[in-house]
Amino acid sequence: MPLVDMKDMLSHAYDHNYAVGAFEVISLDFLEGIVQAAEQARAPVILSLAESHFECFDFDLLMPAVEAAARRAQVPVALHFDHGTSLESAIKGINGGCNGVLVDASQEDFIENTRITREVVEMARACGVSVEGELGYIPGVEGEGAEDYPGELAYTSLAEAKAYVERTGVDFLAISIGTVHGHMKGKPRLDYQRLKQINEALKMPLVLHGGSGLSDDQYRRLIAGGITKINYYTGLSDAAGKYLKDSRRQDMSYARLKKNIRQIIADEAERCMHLWGAAGRAAEVLTRCRPWAPVEHLLICNAEGDSQSIGIMMAEARQLLARIPGVRDVFTGEAMQKDARYQYTCVLRFCHPSLVDTYQQHPVYRDFVNKLLRPAAGSCVNIDFKTFEPPVSTAYQAPVLKQVGN
Ligand code: 13P
Repeated sequence: MPLVDMKDMLSHAYDHNYAVGAFEVISLDFLEGIVQAAEQARAPVILSLAESHFECFDFDLLMPAVEAAARRAQVPVALHFDHGTSLESAIKGINGGCNGVLVDASQEDFIENTRITREVVEMARACGVSVEGELGYIPGVEGEGAEDYPGELAYTSLAEAKAYVERTGVDFLAISIGTVHGHMKGKPRLDYQRLKQINEALKMPLVLHGGSGLSDDQYRRLIAGGITKINYYTGLSDAAGKYLKDSRRQDMSYARLKKNIRQIIADEAERCMHLWGAAGRAAEVLTRCRPWAPVEHLLICNAEGDSQSIGIMMAEARQLLARIPGVRDVFTGEAMQKDARYQYTCVLRFCHPSLVDTYQQHPVYRDFVNKLLRPAAGSCVNIDFKTFEPPVSTAYQAPVLKQVGN
C-alpha cells in the first residue's frame, strides 16, 4: 500500500529540509537492497528506472516487480521514470506504473527543451503523474568514467530556470550546479550561490543528478540550499562492482554472491538515507501523502453481431485503448452466463483517479467510441471503481473471524 504520490512526498522533504534518495534500479538485487535499506532506516524512498539502462534489463519484466515491492513496502515509496528520451517513452513509463517522469531534453536549446517538456507535462497532468524537468547540461553517463563520455557541463541560468518553470509547469526541477553523471574527472566545483538564488526564486523541490561521489559536507550544503531529491546510481554500482572484483578468487556460489550484493546495495543506500536526513521520516511522510492507487473503469454492454466478429472488435479495442496515456491494463470479455443482463465487458485500469476526468477527451478513446463501440453496441453502463482502502494514518484492525466447527 505505501506507494504514494511523488509530489506529496517531495513537498514534505522540501518543507522539512532533507532529501529523498532516488536510487536507480537495474536488477532485483538493487530493488530488494534499496527497499530493505528504506525499511531499515524508516525512510521514504524513490525507486528510479532509467531509459539509459534499458539495455541491461527488460523494463516490461522488471517494472511489475518494482511496483509489487513498492506496494508491499513498510515505508512510503514513489516510482520514477528517469531520463526518458521522448513523449512515447514517458507514456511507456506511466503505463508501466511510474508516478513521476523525466523526459530529459537538457541537451536541446532552451526553446526546444521547453516545448518538449511542456508536451510531457500536458500528457502527465491528465494522468495525475508528477513531472521533473532538467535545465542546464549535466554531462556523463551513470556508472561510467568521464573519459568515455566527455561533454561540457553547462550551469543552469537563474533567468532561464524561472522562465522554464513558468512555461512548462514542471513539479520539480533538476539543475546543473557542478555535478556529473558517473565518475568525475577532478573535483566537483559546486556553485552553492547559484543554487541559493534558484531556490529563493522558485521555492520548489530541486533535483540533483550525478549524486554520487560527493563529501558529507557537500551533501549537507546542497540540501540546506534546496536540493530535495538526489539521484544516485554510481555509488551503488561501484560498491557492487568492487565486491565482485574482490571476490573473484573466492570459490563462492552465484546465489551467495547475489545475496551479498543485495546487502552491499542496502548498506550503501542506508548510509545515504541517514546522511541526507530521510531516515526516520517514514511515518510522518505517510500521513502527508495521498496513496497512489488505480481506478478500475468498468464498461458493460450488449452488442449486435456474431461472437466471432465481436471477438475481433474486442481485440482491436484492447490494442487501441492500451495506447491511452495512464491506461495500465485493458481486459475485454464475455459473460459466462448466457442469461446475464449484459453480455460483454471492457475493463480499463487507470493509473490514477485523474484519468476519470480526462480519458474521454483522448482522440484514441473517441476513435474507440465512434468506430468500434457505437456501431456495434447497444446501451452501455460505465462505472469507475476506486480502491477501497483504510486511511493511511489509521491502523487497520482486521475483523476477528469466528471459528465455525472444527
Ligand atoms: P550518478 O550515477 O552519478 O549517481 O547519477 C545518477 C543520476 O543522476 C541518475 O539520474
